[in-house]
Amino acid sequence: MNKSIRPKKLDDFIGQDSIKKSLRVFIASTKGRGDTFDHTLFYGPPGLGKTTLAKIISEELNVSLKQTTGPSLEKVSDLASILIGLSKGDIFFIDEIHRLPKIIEEVLYSAMEDFKLPILAGSKRSAHTIVLDLNPFTIIGATTRFGLISPPLRDRFGIVYHLEPYSAEELKMIILRDAEVFGIKINEEASYLIGERARGVPRIAIQLLKRVRDYSSINGQEIINGKDALNSFEGLHIDQYGLNDLDRKYIRALLEKFKGGPIGIEAIANSVGEDRGTIEEIIEPYLLKINLILRTPKGRIVTKLAKKYFNFEIDSKESLF
Ligand SMILES: Nc1ncnc2c1ncn2[C@@H]1O[C@H](COP(=O)(O)OP(=O)(O)OP(=O)(O)O)[C@@H](O)[C@H]1O
Ligand SMILES: [Mg+2]
Repeated sequence: MNKSIRPKKLDDFIGQDSIKKSLRVFIASTKGRGDTFDHTLFYGPPGLGKTTLAKIISEELNVSLKQTTGPSLEKVSDLASILIGLSKGDIFFIDEIHRLPKIIEEVLYSAMEDFKLPILAGSKRSAHTIVLDLNPFTIIGATTRFGLISPPLRDRFGIVYHLEPYSAEELKMIILRDAEVFGIKINEEASYLIGERARGVPRIAIQLLKRVRDYSSINGQEIINGKDALNSFEGLHIDQYGLNDLDRKYIRALLEKFKGGPIGIEAIANSVGEDRGTIEEIIEPYLLKINLILRTPKGRIVTKLAKKYFNFEIDSKESLF
């Protein structure tokens, strides 16, 4: 099987229709002009396809892609050697771009704007700045934290895309495609049930598919069906909304230890025993999306829906909100 799990062409990328539609236009127009693609920024929660789209753009444009992450670019010389090595039209993909060190970011400004690289030459008394001309290239940045990118850097991206969570139907299509790549036999119903529980995220859908495969294979099932999938979710402690033990622990902490909030992130993180980043980037976005919690200036609070979910009886004297 030579089909890879990561779609390589825009046509194989499922969902994100408006992004695909506009990318098609920009890719065709760039190719038509023999030009370099505009600097592009993808932002959105983990596992939605930012890296995949960056790679697809390079495939569609037939250019090379060099990849790094914001925090790993420590020295200006590291950045300089990458930029000098880029050919015309190449893509330099920077993941976690919100974590670029400040000194790197400042060098990147002029590199992005006029493809010029100021470097310090000579030593001590003879030190002076020389400006190198670079081949025109494209920066593709990806981040889960749009708000942490400094405005001057943000403004240098001509194209900015926000990736949205996927529908259960779209995730079903991704699961069916990936099952084929992995050689897993699964029917549409089971794929949809996984899609429904994947919290809108392809990466979670793929992980769930593998776990459902594990559960179903010990039952010796030929083709995974809806009943097999439901049995697997029970074993995995994943409910019909895709909530897992960690999500429930989070909401329980809010309800039982903090009387439903408002409570600050650090207190919840301590109580749940997870770091702040995991809570903010993995747990909360989905709980916010399905209206189980709210973020207020004073902290997080649980909603009536969450109380209903847990069948939580509250003391009538205690107010939760
Ligand atoms: N639209 C899609 N169609 C098919 N597969 C997808 C799609 N989006 C993502 N995937 C798959 O989901 C997985 C995660 O995607 P990817 O690594 O691109 O996410 P990301 O947004 O870069 O995540 P992170 O923020 O963690 O870097 C990959 O295996 C990828 O192939
Ligand atoms: Mg990525």
